[in-house]
Amino acid sequence: MAGTLRGARVLKDLSNMDFRVLNMIETLLRKGEYAPVDKIVTYSKYRDKDVDLILSKLNKLKLIRRWSGGFIGYSLSIAGFDALALNTLYNKKIVYGVGNSRGVGKESDIYHAIDFENNEIIIKINRTGRASFKQIKRKRDFLKGRFHYSIFSTSTISAKREFEILTKLKDQNLPVPDIKGYNRHIIAMNVVEGVELINARELRKPIKVLETVIEFAKTLYQKYGLVHADLTEYNILYDERTEQVTVIDFPQAVDIDHPDAEVFLRRDFIHFLDYFGKKWGVSTDDHETVIEYIIGKK
Ligand SMILES: Nc1ncnc2c1ncn2[C@@H]1O[C@H](COP(=O)(O)OP(=O)(O)O)[C@@H](O)[C@H]1O
Ligand SMILES: [Mg+2]
Repeated sequence: MAGTLRGARVLKDLSNMDFRVLNMIETLLRKGEYAPVDKIVTYSKYRDKDVDLILSKLNKLKLIRRWSGGFIGYSLSIAGFDALALNTLYNKKIVYGVGNSRGVGKESDIYHAIDFENNEIIIKINRTGRASFKQIKRKRDFLKGRFHYSIFSTSTISAKREFEILTKLKDQNLPVPDIKGYNRHIIAMNVVEGVELINARELRKPIKVLETVIEFAKTLYQKYGLVHADLTEYNILYDERTEQVTVIDFPQAVDIDHPDAEVFLRRDFIHFLDYFGKKWGVSTDDHETVIEYIIGKK
């Protein structure tokens, strides 16, 4: 089943007891590299025999990984972590089902999904740290458990940050996705029509697109105290049919009192204005005026 997500496919095969054990492993991994089987038994209050059956089922589904050294323990796989998040999103009535992949971002996997009213939505699964994981995998195997755990926490922090920002901006008539909810490293939002600006074939009114982006950055800065900090032609979606512009991808956004906030804002706009001039023929030599307009300096 190419294009679908393993952590989603297995959901229907998992019982509440399976999830309780999976949850317990996640919790125990905060304290050590592997979750010891005896602790899983003690905390779950399930019988040894039942725990063994559940663990071998979860292992077979590749949601956990067995390890034996001084004791027998388990670590959580990325699919296991996905399954935990998706199960919670299901229980919170945010995501009913997950469909095909919509693409792989720089630090995320994007999937089609549906909500409980049968509307199409998008889930963004944060994979912050994925690149460094691939590197480390080749090196020291025994680091795996802990390293996974650190990926889980950094990707959760990213998703939480993006969720909080999009929640602040929700219902303000701003050109951003409509956030639906989040859990762990996954956020759910509406489907934004269109393509990334880098892939747009034509802009009917380039100047309007540029204005929208500048006005958005200004509101973000002056009203919400934020700088996007990755505002590029990859993170702006353009719908050729409606000419709608949408700015996406907020985990790295910084508060304006961050010591580098102005550096990031300047970097965003020096790049973006240059790109826009070269590609869409609307240029401004005066980057500083634009930046001052966004910041609101006299
Ligand atoms: N709500 C959405 N609707 C439609 N496509 C989206 C949505 N969110 C993200 N995408 C697509 O997924 C890609 C990656 O998302 P993005 O938020 O930029 O994450 P990354 O940090 O991985 O770049 C985007 O470039 C865009 O094509
Ligand atoms: Mg992006």
